[in-house]
Amino acid sequence: MKFVIRGGKKLSGEIAVHGGKNSVLKPMAASLLFAKPITITNIPLIEDVFRMRELLEDLGVTVEEGDRILQINSVTLRGSKLKEDIAKRFRASVVLVGPLLARSGKAQFPHPGGCVIGKRPIDLFLDGWQAMGAKVHEGKHGFEISAKKLKGADFTFRVVSVTGTETLMMTAVLAHGRTILRNVAMEPEIPALAQFLNDSGAKISGAGTPTIEIIGTGGKLLHAKRPFEVIPDRIEAGSFLILGAAVGKNIKVTGCNPEHLTTLIAALKDAGVRLEIGKDWILVSRPRRLLAVNIQTHEYPGFPTDLQAPFAVLMTQAEGESMIFETIFEGRFGYAEELRRMGGKIFASDLHRILVKGPTHLRGRKIESPDLRAGLAFVVAAFLAKGESKIGNVYQIDRGYERIDERLKKLGAEIERVT
Ligand code: EPZ
Repeated sequence: MKFVIRGGKKLSGEIAVHGGKNSVLKPMAASLLFAKPITITNIPLIEDVFRMRELLEDLGVTVEEGDRILQINSVTLRGSKLKEDIAKRFRASVVLVGPLLARSGKAQFPHPGGCVIGKRPIDLFLDGWQAMGAKVHEGKHGFEISAKKLKGADFTFRVVSVTGTETLMMTAVLAHGRTILRNVAMEPEIPALAQFLNDSGAKISGAGTPTIEIIGTGGKLLHAKRPFEVIPDRIEAGSFLILGAAVGKNIKVTGCNPEHLTTLIAALKDAGVRLEIGKDWILVSRPRRLLAVNIQTHEYPGFPTDLQAPFAVLMTQAEGESMIFETIFEGRFGYAEELRRMGGKIFASDLHRILVKGPTHLRGRKIESPDLRAGLAFVVAAFLAKGESKIGNVYQIDRGYERIDERLKKLGAEIERVT
């Protein structure tokens, strides 16, 4: 499957943001902590959601679907082994292990597999579970963890990990006693998850700050009093803002939360992009002159690493040199080589830094998406480029962007999905 794109056109119109990939996957996993079904609304129809559903159903959990609604009932949970071929397809499958261990006292899962952006180790997850009293056994097919009785622990993350924070927070919810998690991530998806768990009987404080405290229920399951509404995808919204800054003429990004995009907005303004910001919408156009801006990715509220690749593509059009410093992943410049072949002037200074010189004219070509965010960056590059581009491995883009081709067509884009 590939996207065929003809570049050189201005895009305009309105595009609505869907529920966040990195929000929805976590309450889906949290369903194992509940004695009764939970309802999740504003579901994005993306591949990673389908995979998480398959993993849950393989464990005996029943999932019913409505219009962007999932009702998940873990009363029928019977297994404790994640299906290897599904779990390996997305890193977030590891999030399911925490609730599974907390619910059934054991879990078996494969090495979640790095993706192209980095090794993606899970040592912090394993250390955290062991701190709570779990036994970890590593075999050639992956890991087996078990715990007769999970107890609260005082655990410090050596490195900030969003999924690590969410997974250990969920594990601690059913443990016996008090858990303190230190040096945790503060992404907006975390307070949203914590609030839902608290409204269902958990006792979590500090979500959204560097330290989270959980008073475990001692094994008592949760009861949801309301649905979980998936929060708008800030990375999808940011991707559309960058697209608008590159080739837009009054593109209105709707259904977003501008408060979750402050560092990207600051970078775009410094690059000379005109933005009009409403309560839940942002209007963006390509400016006459784009200026080079240095960025440094950082855990929230810093510049999101998931927007680093699309922003670097934008900087190929800016006047001057911009230093892109990727502080979180060691392999997140996989797109640079292809971008050079399209005409981008990109110089790697080390594993974590590239220099982009602009403005340069990009030429369309055949490219493969290494990961979902680089895939979206190539879509932006293809719209900027003269001529036709073919972007392969579209599954990667479909993992995080729902029907992106149909939605961009509505903005006037010449994009076709072909096998
Ligand atoms: C989440 O990954 C997101 N994924 C990522 O989105 C996002 O890029 C990242 O947060 C940062 O915002 C989901 O929420 C499902 P990690 P996260 O693997 O934080 C080190 C996308 O495109 N580390 O924990 O869970 C690791 O090496 C994806 O949507 C350890 O050392 O990422 C890295 O340097 C990509 N040991 C850092 O932590 C561990 O046990 C974060 O990596 C775990 C992580």
